[in-house]
Amino acid sequence: MRKRAEDLRRDGKVIAVVPTMGYLHDGHLSLLRAARSRSDVVVLTLFVNPTQFGPSEDLSRYPRDEDGDLAKARSCGVDLAFCPDAGAMYPPGSQTFVEVRELQRPLCGESRPGHFVGVATVVTKLFHLTRPHLAFFGEKDFQQLAVIRRMTRDLDFGIEIVGMPIVREPDGLAMSSRNVYLSPEERAQALCLVRGLDAAETLLRAGERDAGALLGAARAPCEAAPSARIDYVALLDAEELTEIERVERPAVLAMAVFVGKTRLIDNRVLRP
Ligand code: PAJ
Repeated sequence: MRKRAEDLRRDGKVIAVVPTMGYLHDGHLSLLRAARSRSDVVVLTLFVNPTQFGPSEDLSRYPRDEDGDLAKARSCGVDLAFCPDAGAMYPPGSQTFVEVRELQRPLCGESRPGHFVGVATVVTKLFHLTRPHLAFFGEKDFQQLAVIRRMTRDLDFGIEIVGMPIVREPDGLAMSSRNVYLSPEERAQALCLVRGLDAAETLLRAGERDAGALLGAARAPCEAAPSARIDYVALLDAEELTEIERVERPAVLAMAVFVGKTRLIDNRVLRP
């Protein structure tokens, strides 16, 4: 892959990469289409990265459909798909990792120790292998995007990181490969996340700036859903991901909620 990418670069082609773990949905496809519109060569990476899963997480049952993914990729004009296996990405003796120290700490970093080291390390490797000018990521994974932006800046990768809006189902549920785990009953209750975000945003629009009040509104629908269990609901400064007491500048309202056994995340940027 690396040799191919270097040849394309030498020919003056603009390369865009879209890293994914596959089982593509319209959220992923929105990244591929945006990449298509801004580059000569679109590279999709499909790799279920073991180092970002905890020991009791869903690595072995993570949904996969490589043939379906490649067909969808083709329909979005993807030029190259890079689908390495774990042995090729992490040969025996691998012992080097990338850590974005502060931004990885709160939210998912607290509930999933080691997760963002796995993400930052694999994204670094995927960048080096695909040699992109541009890389596309979704705001659905807000903290991941922040970690990757900071890593790219701190380590002088010289890649433009493009963030794309969250793509939702018609009823508002944020698209996720993990939504297939939900039973019909859980699927209905999963709307508690977006309802919480909507409620908080409505309160903000009415003039509320207090974090406690906004968080209360965001939590209420999740507390009322019998199959839902909150992992976190937090309001943080959108740049530094530090806790705030009032919304004075852009803040991110982020939540992770187990619906049944499935952990879902969603977020909304609140601007005063
Ligand atoms: P994955 O969960 O497959 O997501 C791949 C990309 O699609 C990420 O940038 C994610 O934010 C984006 N995405 C997922 N759902 C979305 C939605 N509903 N709307 C918009 N974008 C969405 O994120 C990962 O894989 C991995 O951690 C990875 C970066 C590939 C590293 O292994």
